[in-house]
Amino acid sequence: MQLTIERLGHQGDGIGQGPIYAAQTLPGEVVEGDIVDGRMSKPRILTPSEDRVKAPCRHYSVCGGCSLQHASDDFVSNWKRDVVVTALKHQGIFAKITAVHTSPPQSRRRAVFHGKRTKNGAHLGLFGRASDILHDIPSCKLMSASIMSGFETLRSLVVLGATRRGHMTLTVTEVAGGLDVSVENGKDLDLKFRSELASFVPNSGLIRLVWQGEVIAQNGLPYQLFGSAKVVPPAGAFLQATSHGEAVLVDAMRRAVGDAKSVVDLFAGCGTFSLPLAQTARVHAVEDVREMMEALEAGWREALGLKQVTTETRDLFRRPLLPDELAKFEAVVIDPPRAGAAAQIAELAKSEIGVIGFVSCNPVTFARDARVLLDAGFVLDWLEVVDQFRWSSHVEVAARFARMS
Ligand SMILES: C[S@@+](CC[C@H](N)C(=O)[O-])C[C@H]1O[C@@H](n2cnc3c(N)ncnc32)[C@H](O)[C@@H]1O
Repeated sequence: MQLTIERLGHQGDGIGQGPIYAAQTLPGEVVEGDIVDGRMSKPRILTPSEDRVKAPCRHYSVCGGCSLQHASDDFVSNWKRDVVVTALKHQGIFAKITAVHTSPPQSRRRAVFHGKRTKNGAHLGLFGRASDILHDIPSCKLMSASIMSGFETLRSLVVLGATRRGHMTLTVTEVAGGLDVSVENGKDLDLKFRSELASFVPNSGLIRLVWQGEVIAQNGLPYQLFGSAKVVPPAGAFLQATSHGEAVLVDAMRRAVGDAKSVVDLFAGCGTFSLPLAQTARVHAVEDVREMMEALEAGWREALGLKQVTTETRDLFRRPLLPDELAKFEAVVIDPPRAGAAAQIAELAKSEIGVIGFVSCNPVTFARDARVLLDAGFVLDWLEVVDQFRWSSHVEVAARFARMS
């Protein structure tokens, strides 16, 4: 069967009339293949798009980690721009995107790999697209050089610690001097295995190894630098996907809050924004994971020259900051999870807050929340796309809202 691709869906798959989905295709392309359950699984490209490029990574045809390597960088950034513009249009918002910042290849600093023992060693990598087949990806072009230089060490860890039953999960984060690795679904810890793991770490390049929540060995301080503060996040904690993306977002939030002397950072994580902003403003950080708040506070205590930073562990979905609490601050930074921040945005709308720096990894919930702010008298000053999810269909935005004076 032949199909003309009309548009890309949210996952980056091409969509033709039906709808019929065809992965790794582009709008305007004519493709051919068998269709099962509304999906052309192996499309042959009969008429390629001018935006088609040769995928840079040799694992791309099978690996599920990337979905847009077959498209030019210009195509991807325009498509991501359109995703945001369309989500806003659905809310009746007509906004101009003033910049698209794309992280370079080999810059992802956090990976969730899966591993499985084989007769002679182990498979390590990512699952295929919509499949549970694990693909080895030793030449991955997405993950940072530091993660990939530790790839064979991580494979040895799978040989040592995977069971024959299922897949072991390794959350790997680039930290100063090496890798921070947190393993789930590996062998159970007993005395013998614990000591095998502990002796694995010293010459491995791993800075910390955490096994099923227990720190096994630490070979230095697994810290991130947020501004001038060294923070040791809990194992597997949220971190912006690339250093480049983080730098762009921090710069955006600096521009958003301007010279505000007091800032509240909502959904603060381990302090990605709080600590750099504390160079010029008093900051109150709020987040619902206590260990992240503790890590942020410990980092602040050790850092020199920062203004006061206070922390509060609080569920902002159930107990958003109320207008009288918000009245203590000149500006807000908010960076919620994909679900957005409906409850907190409703309180911000009622408050006297003048400036909001907004970071979001979901254009749909961002547009919903933006509608509430605009209805409450804010204007959208600027909006930028921060593509730290290169070659994937994920889109992140940074924006500034201010009250009309
Ligand atoms: C997108 S991350 C941003 C973290 C931080 N701003 C950063 O850049 O590193 C969202 C954060 O919201 C936190 N979070 C999720 N649900 C929450 C809730 N109901 N209340 C407060 N924080 C929540 C998560 O733990 C996570 O740290």
